[in-house]
Amino acid sequence: MSKSFDVVVIGGGPGGYIAAIRAAQLGFKVACAESHSYDDPKGEPRLGGTCLNVGCIPSKALLASSEEFEKIGHHAADHGIKVGPISIDSQKMLARKDDIVTKMTGGIQYLFRKNKITLLKGHASFEGKTTEGFQVKIDGKDQETVTAKNVIIATGSKARHLPGIPVDNVLICDNEGALKFDSTPKTLGVIGAGVIGLELGSVWRRIGSKVTILEAMPSFLGACDQGIAKEAQKLLSKQGLLINTGVKIGEVKTDKKGVVVHYTDSAGKAAKLECDRLIVSVGRIPNTENLCLDKIGLTVDERGFIPIDDHTCSTAVPGVYAVGDVVRGPMLAHKAEDEGVLVAEIIAGQKPHIDYNCIPWVIYTDPEIAWVGKTEEQLIAAGIAYKPGQFPFAANGRALGMGRSDGFIKILADAKTDEILGVHIIGANASDLIAEAAVAMEFKAAAEDIARICHPHPSLSEVMREAALATDSRALNM
Ligand code: FAD
Ligand code: NAI
Repeated sequence: MSKSFDVVVIGGGPGGYIAAIRAAQLGFKVACAESHSYDDPKGEPRLGGTCLNVGCIPSKALLASSEEFEKIGHHAADHGIKVGPISIDSQKMLARKDDIVTKMTGGIQYLFRKNKITLLKGHASFEGKTTEGFQVKIDGKDQETVTAKNVIIATGSKARHLPGIPVDNVLICDNEGALKFDSTPKTLGVIGAGVIGLELGSVWRRIGSKVTILEAMPSFLGACDQGIAKEAQKLLSKQGLLINTGVKIGEVKTDKKGVVVHYTDSAGKAAKLECDRLIVSVGRIPNTENLCLDKIGLTVDERGFIPIDDHTCSTAVPGVYAVGDVVRGPMLAHKAEDEGVLVAEIIAGQKPHIDYNCIPWVIYTDPEIAWVGKTEEQLIAAGIAYKPGQFPFAANGRALGMGRSDGFIKILADAKTDEILGVHIIGANASDLIAEAAVAMEFKAAAEDIARICHPHPSLSEVMREAALATDSRALNM
């Protein structure tokens, strides 16, 4: 007889492993299938998904190392600190990143044991449905079929590649190869000035690469508030990232020297970029192949995503849910996690809710870029009258003390009700500062609420309060 579970989760990334833990906390008998071994030395499937293995965590580890290098090399002198010539051991930097990844993925294994979650090692696919539940086949070192009353599909996404540009993850890399260059490339090309292009481009620029980014769209960071995007383009270009927008990529060739990218620039002129390595970061596509969805009567949409009910993440087949990168919405780890919790609670009969308007975004460049809610462009397009309030970090004592005076916070409040509709930050620690804005928006706070809350002095958070005051033209320190 096959093993049977209340809940089988397919995929051990942030959507899947968090769903499994929450379901176990709620008293269900839970299993979670994972097939990818990433860089595991024993070739065993590793938990944590894209986020822990080849995404959020390793990229932030490299960003932190490269930031330290840049601080010591370029900013220590501002503080009167004298240092001699510095160099970076990129192998050690990568080893540090790998240690962090191993610690984190091992941590999830511990959490699985603690919560009595069965790890099914191998590729999961549907075989069909009987009166007992869904039959899920696991193809690993051994083969088995398990039965599940409920299935949560959390299979995530993979890098989108471009036709005619074969990724070998040595010379031409997606996120997986770009996180483990064995040496610092002298010249690095990046196709796509999105989140990955800017974050990983920044890592390698800081430690010595000349980085050129080729972006198809005429505008920079189109999804961002354009005031923030303009400031970001100015600051990142000043740091040395060469950002070319409005290009059309042509033929890409590799030879002994590296990679040659032929493209047409924004003026329509033929151009070429010669680089030691190339990162292709042009978005991600959902993982749905070989899941045999047809065996339970499920299909994907025209972009490969699994269609779900917007509020419950349930698919067209009762008892089957889908969360994270494999469904609509932002491809973010915290969004995947929240959906994982939501589904586990729905299976338990609870009535959870996610306000997608309150999901924060962060781009971990320096300075960081973070936002929640609507941009000015979205409010104008929707015909919503709003009051902007902006305050610069340059007028904040803590920011000056830290030598981090670049950027600003902008709050957009409803012109009639004063409700906060969007908050946009470019500046130091934006990833932490945005949490206050997300809390405020979840509680439907007004700009006046933030303006009246006592913020610690001196702290960067005072910029948030001043921006709130500025929506009513009464900033105090400007
Ligand atoms: P995934 O993390 O992709 O996990 C899905 C898992 O399912 C994978 O391990 C896969 O092997 C497994 N799987 C797939 N099919 C099967 C199957 N049939 N059987 C068994 N297992 C299967 N997001 C942020 O919020 N902040 C960041 O700073 C951030 N940085 C990023 C940096 C990079 C370089 C990248 C690439 C992404 C980053 N992201 C970040 C995005 C984030 O990683 C994803 O949004 C998140 O991992 C999605 O979680 P998920 O659980 O839906 O899918
Ligand atoms: P992206 O969607 O952020 O950016 C892709 C960029 O490539 C866009 O600017 C797009 O216009 C451009 N592009 C597309 N086709 C092109 C072409 N043919 N030629 C030139 N440019 C082209 O995708 P990216 O950077 O690959 O990241 C994927 C996703 O991973 C992100 O959208 C995000 O959801 C997630 N992520 C999140 C991070 C974070 O939260 N800090 C960090 C990294 C990734």
